[in-house]
Amino acid sequence: MTVADLDACLALWRRCEGLVLREACDQPPALAAFLERNPGFSWVAETERAQVIAAVLCGHDGRRAYLYHLAVDPSWRRLGCGRALLTAVRQPLKAAGISRCHAFVRTDNASALRYWERLQAERRTDIQLFTVRFADEV
Ligand SMILES: CC(C)(COP(=O)(O)OP(=O)(O)OC[C@H]1O[C@@H](n2cnc3c(N)ncnc32)[C@H](O)[C@@H]1OP(=O)(O)O)[C@@H](O)C(=O)NCCC(=O)NCCS
Repeated sequence: MTVADLDACLALWRRCEGLVLREACDQPPALAAFLERNPGFSWVAETERAQVIAAVLCGHDGRRAYLYHLAVDPSWRRLGCGRALLTAVRQPLKAAGISRCHAFVRTDNASALRYWERLQAERRTDIQLFTVRFADEV
């Protein structure tokens, strides 16, 4: 994923159910800053005509990686696009020495919960997520 893909990614994310887009961080400038900070970790899948049909944001903090906004266009699902994006993410993380990756899933996103379970990702029941807000961001 490059900055040139961001408008198409935002359009994709807006047409995918289950994702939560934030006012402040899901704008091209903030997303471009994320890509600049985490070069080579975020990916898109395109058709032969260069239409973006799947995307994932990924970054790490030197200890753990985080996945955001994994999404596949509804008409391209169950064809392995999601799996291909996760495979693409894996290599740069490995090169960076990062072996674990967290994905945040809303508890009401039953489909995504089933998806991660299908992929045998570890569902954490020992952790609750707390968010401390330092600004007025929603
Ligand atoms: C979740 C999502 C990314 C999956 O993408 P996809 O391209 O359809 O997934 P894949 O085709 O790579 O599927 C990989 C495996 O998961 C299974 N799978 C896919 N979606 C599934 C679902 N909703 N429930 C259960 N299993 C699912 C596939 O059958 C496949 O299994 P197998 O290869 O072991 O037989 C896609 O459904 C999506 O964009 N959902 C809306 C956005 C969203 O909720 N994203 C998750 C945010 S955390």
